[in-house]
Amino acid sequence: MTSTLGPPPPYYENRGFQPEPPYAARPAAGAHPYPQLFSTNPPSVPSYIPRVATHQSSRPAAPPPRRTCAASLRKTIIIILSILIVICCAIAAFFIWYFVENHCLSSLIECGSSGVCMSPSQWCDGVSDCPNGEDETRCVRLFGPNFILEVYSPVSKSWYPVCHDDWNDDYGKIACKDMGYSVDTYFYSRGVPDVSFKSYMKLNTSAGNIDLYKKLYSSGSCASGNVVSLRCIECGLSSKSASIMNRIVGGSGAVLGQWPWQVSLHVQGTHVCGGSIITPHWLVTAAHCVEGRLSDPHSWRVYAGILNQDEMLFRSGYKVQLIISHPDYDTDSKDNDVALMKLETPLSFTETVRPVCLPNPGMMFQPNQQCWISGWGAEYQGGKTSNNLNYVAVPLIERSRCNSVYIYNGMILPTMICAGDLAGGIDSCQGDSGGPLVTHHHSVWWLVGDTSWGTGCATPNKPGVYGNMTVFTDWIYKNMQANR
Ligand code: ARG
Repeated sequence: MTSTLGPPPPYYENRGFQPEPPYAARPAAGAHPYPQLFSTNPPSVPSYIPRVATHQSSRPAAPPPRRTCAASLRKTIIIILSILIVICCAIAAFFIWYFVENHCLSSLIECGSSGVCMSPSQWCDGVSDCPNGEDETRCVRLFGPNFILEVYSPVSKSWYPVCHDDWNDDYGKIACKDMGYSVDTYFYSRGVPDVSFKSYMKLNTSAGNIDLYKKLYSSGSCASGNVVSLRCIECGLSSKSASIMNRIVGGSGAVLGQWPWQVSLHVQGTHVCGGSIITPHWLVTAAHCVEGRLSDPHSWRVYAGILNQDEMLFRSGYKVQLIISHPDYDTDSKDNDVALMKLETPLSFTETVRPVCLPNPGMMFQPNQQCWISGWGAEYQGGKTSNNLNYVAVPLIERSRCNSVYIYNGMILPTMICAGDLAGGIDSCQGDSGGPLVTHHHSVWWLVGDTSWGTGCATPNKPGVYGNMTVFTDWIYKNMQANR
């Protein structure tokens, strides 16, 4: 995070993080690229020496003790057979468990309980792929800043809000699960008055104990006039939000609990990138942070709820189980620069460790909306990682303006969003990548973007460029759903 202009920076075209520090000492050319992961010993073939007596015995001496020999042969056969039976049973038990518990491999979503598996991109895409069309009949989303629950109707090909009449938390939990959340984080369902809707999805209470989505039918009326506002996780709370609201200054040291979703991502004990907590298991970061050999989850350790890097050295951090990079991420243009990290063990939320809210479709951020960035990145172009967490307020910059010839001349794609001061002086910088760009709206903090790239740091007319989170929300939910 750059807070001052610092020494005159060398002009530098910054198009992403180059992960040198953690791998400074590279093995000699030709050496195995993953020395700590793979053994260099050739695979050994188990050498089996039969211990059973055969009939080509060349000993003509005393007659062999036939009965004892036959008995020991029988014993050996019985032992081998029982071992084989145990192994077969274990394999069979595994397959039974696998097909009863989860029919689909991770990264795929099952069509109801049919055992047919679909890729997340086929889910709710308007084309029915599952045998019974489940990929299009269980489509739910949260719309706008009030988290209005909407259900997709494949018949009329449009989204409808759900009438709050007869709605309860059990239904709310089903909808949250179908979005990719775990029921453990469920927060609430509330009825909110909304006059702008003309059609609703209503619950048919006389339908009996059937699937939630089969109970819903479209209707032009909703007796209470209230629609369901659904919160699947208590996100976007900062215990220190009041104090920062009257402290909009450039580049300051953060206090604990101010940006509770901010994490530091380490490789071999060194801070490499930032990230944002969205659920106890999932983090959002930048795809360019996890490129190449850094796509191995074992490379990473995650630190949450800690302000200073030197404190992290004494902690072990959280292990990463899975990394999912956006399939359309482009290294050169930085198109779709977003990735998900799943932790091996869930975070427990406290005052200092909390999730940020993912932006819902239909959220309007103002052209100059005030946002904040935070991170342990360099404090000036070419500087080293900061020990303490810094933050700075940055207004959004309209895409058309950011794409103008004198700024980024058409390089800002729809998956990107610019923020900063065109006069220079405030910006994110090397090491802030993957970290949050957030805004405060309707009393919650929203993840507007993830730090992606910029030309130099804090250079006039070269603002910071962030991944446009609103366009990634759907991809994030589908992947959380496929890898629960
Ligand atoms: N790509 C950088 C990183 O890996 C972040 C750069 C942000 N640059 C900027 N001028 N805002 O940390």
